[in-house]
Amino acid sequence: LDDLLAEGVSGRRVLVRADLNVPLDGDVITDDGRIRASLPTITRLAEAGARVIVAAHLGRPKGAPEARYSLAPVAERLGELLGRPVALATDVAGESAAATTASLADGDVALLENVRFDPRETSKDAAERDALADELAALADAFVSDGFGVVHRKQASVYDVATKLPAYAGGLVLAEVEVLRKLTGDAARPYVVVLGGSKVSDKLAVIESLLPKVDAILVGGGMCFTFLAAEGLGVGDSLLEAEMIDTCKRLLAEHPEKILLPADVVIADAFAADANTHTVLAANIREGWKGLDIGPITVERYSEVIAGAGTVFWNGPMGVFELAPFAEGTRGVAAAIVAADAFSVVGGGDSAAAVRLLGLPEDGFSHISTGGGASLEFLEGKDLPGVQVIETGVGG
Ligand code: 3PG
Repeated sequence: LDDLLAEGVSGRRVLVRADLNVPLDGDVITDDGRIRASLPTITRLAEAGARVIVAAHLGRPKGAPEARYSLAPVAERLGELLGRPVALATDVAGESAAATTASLADGDVALLENVRFDPRETSKDAAERDALADELAALADAFVSDGFGVVHRKQASVYDVATKLPAYAGGLVLAEVEVLRKLTGDAARPYVVVLGGSKVSDKLAVIESLLPKVDAILVGGGMCFTFLAAEGLGVGDSLLEAEMIDTCKRLLAEHPEKILLPADVVIADAFAADANTHTVLAANIREGWKGLDIGPITVERYSEVIAGAGTVFWNGPMGVFELAPFAEGTRGVAAAIVAADAFSVVGGGDSAAAVRLLGLPEDGFSHISTGGGASLEFLEGKDLPGVQVIETGVGG
């Protein structure tokens, strides 16, 4: 971005790929962290006189417009935060996008409608993605990759368009990569990873690749029940990925001292804020009940491990923190990370949103990443197509 600004952007059309994939309740944004994280790059470009065209996705629509995935609420919030209106094109790269971007004055900002409304964005067929990338590239003179949360996706607006225009890394992508590199290099020991979230299948690859490198993995969230089942415990109606049990068994057998599982859990008779609840030992989960949070004994044990850590990476909530009866596990573990004298990184849209929604101090963490899957894939050592394409400089 510094290079692009040094070249001069006044009057030039700059396409910025941002990650504005925020959680919504209806059309109300419940956490605008990703929009705020995208502001510095957009602001620097606009203040330098660029005509800024932002491309972004929201959710996972199936390649066609769907009202609930419109970026309209995001355009409005982005405009509020920038202090200037943000025009929203009603299509991705069609007539509306052309007209909206053509009417931009220097320093103006426009947002294209959800790029995933076009099936070519996420197509596995490179020629299809290429065709959309051509249309996007025709709207602009330069491309800035600033959507760190989406750089692990080989998609038209992330990867292919960067091969069509002079392409630059935005400040957010640079900052994220710099911090996450510290976690893959000589991280201060003990190196503790806290992993939660619902699906264990999403996390097994990162667990496999982290186990040799870290000192402890503390497991919570919906994914812990497949591990508990692998230990031979009954998990009632809790989330369970039966086909993953064998892999969990193997990981537990290979690294029994490194993988820590909950000793107690909060169970409920329904997935609801007004459900009946009990806190029970993990061995005593009742038939017909589901575990929705880790319990206080677990929070205490995990907190002790975190207190002694030199580095902590946390991805995924410990329970259904959006519902008050199941928020204490996430709150407790997050508070322990804040209190620890460790280099601490929060990775993941959900965990970052939990920090803010639970009112934890954002400056209590060394870094809050905007990337969920992207930060995990980075730690796994995978190539991130959206970063690689900028590094190899194939664009323009
Ligand atoms: C995220 O929420 O992690 C990013 O916005 C990427 O979204 P995706 O997993 O739907 O590609």
